[in-house]
Amino acid sequence: MQVSIKIQRFNPEQDKKPYWKTYQVEAALNDQILDVLHKVKWYQDGTLTLRRSCAHGICGSDAMVINGRNRLACKTLVKHVGANITVEPIRGMKIVKDLVVDMRPFFAKYRSVLPYLINDSPPPDTERLQTIEARERFDDTTKCILCACCTTACPSFWANEDYVGPAAIVQAHRFIFDDRDQGRMQRLEVLNERDGVWRCRTVFNCVEACPRDIDITKAIGDVKKALLYSNF
Ligand code: SF4
Ligand code: F3S
Ligand code: FES
Repeated sequence: MQVSIKIQRFNPEQDKKPYWKTYQVEAALNDQILDVLHKVKWYQDGTLTLRRSCAHGICGSDAMVINGRNRLACKTLVKHVGANITVEPIRGMKIVKDLVVDMRPFFAKYRSVLPYLINDSPPPDTERLQTIEARERFDDTTKCILCACCTTACPSFWANEDYVGPAAIVQAHRFIFDDRDQGRMQRLEVLNERDGVWRCRTVFNCVEACPRDIDITKAIGDVKKALLYSNF
């Protein structure tokens, strides 16, 4: 079938503002939107710039707005969106070129929540054991692939780019509720700051946007409750 793909283009070295360009591409219903973008780049216009790596929903590098919704281009098929496709970069981030945005502020927020196991006690002879129930407390948030679909769908983030955002909260949750970790209070202090978790207004866009189906608002609620019951 023939599909029409309208792509937001912007090269800051030569364009004053973003503009739309439409391409006609031969595609199958089960083709990924990423395949369609590749066909444009490889056979029609080599200047099109996009970011991707795994092509299988694992690396999180090809988040974009497809037909108005944040999605991964490799997990979205032509049959999901139909023959008229529009693609834009994720919102609220500086555009580097075309569909590539500057992810550095996003990863700075990720780093701010100390997203690694903190435990200064001497390691035991075997691994640090954990019960199945204790592991289940943070199982959902281990699935995050840091694609930024959630944060860049969040109106609180659009209104205030300093808001730490749902992705960083999800990553903090993964360690705050790990009973092998000792950095819980440090992370909660970060999330209790002015632009921390309290900026969330429970809009739920993040949940709808997450390609890993993580219950992000539950994770945010868990963190808020931990703050309320931790004498902050
Ligand atoms: Fe992406 Fe979901 Fe992680 Fe947000 S929580 S960064 S949407 S995988
Ligand atoms: Fe934003 Fe999600 Fe909260 S969309 S306001 S982080 S519920
Ligand atoms: Fe890796 Fe899509 S290219 S998630």
